[in-house]
Amino acid sequence: MDYTNLIRKALEARSHSYSPYSHFAVGAALLCADGTVYQGANIENAAFGVSQCAERTALFQAVFEGKREFTAIAIVGKAEGAEPKLCAPCGICRQALTEFCSPEDFEIVLAVTEENYKIYKLAELLPLGFTNESLH
Ligand code: THU
Repeated sequence: MDYTNLIRKALEARSHSYSPYSHFAVGAALLCADGTVYQGANIENAAFGVSQCAERTALFQAVFEGKREFTAIAIVGKAEGAEPKLCAPCGICRQALTEFCSPEDFEIVLAVTEENYKIYKLAELLPLGFTNESLH
């Protein structure tokens, strides 16, 4: 799978970050099974706990618009004034993704540039996620 375009969209999304507290800007681009892409950035708040990650910004917008099947997400993060490095999703975002994404198939692309990235399966980053089946 060629993730060049998805990474490019994550990089573009990162420029929409509202992160005046952490000065750490994150961008995400979520690829739906139908080929559409939803972008998200982190949006912080003076009450720090209210802040939202880039991944969930993208995921919740997609779900709001009726999407339910997803193939991959590209994530890019960068501290202000520093060189970018791979940015892994937080635990809450991994759990949010597992609600809709197959752990064995869904790919998480951690990127620095279109050429410099690493791909993980959701199952590698979230083994034994809590799912709908766990409730029954
Ligand atoms: N953040 C994300 O948006 N995604 C991640 O995968 C890790 C962390 C945000 C949350 C907060 O706005 C900033 O990065 C620093 O933690």
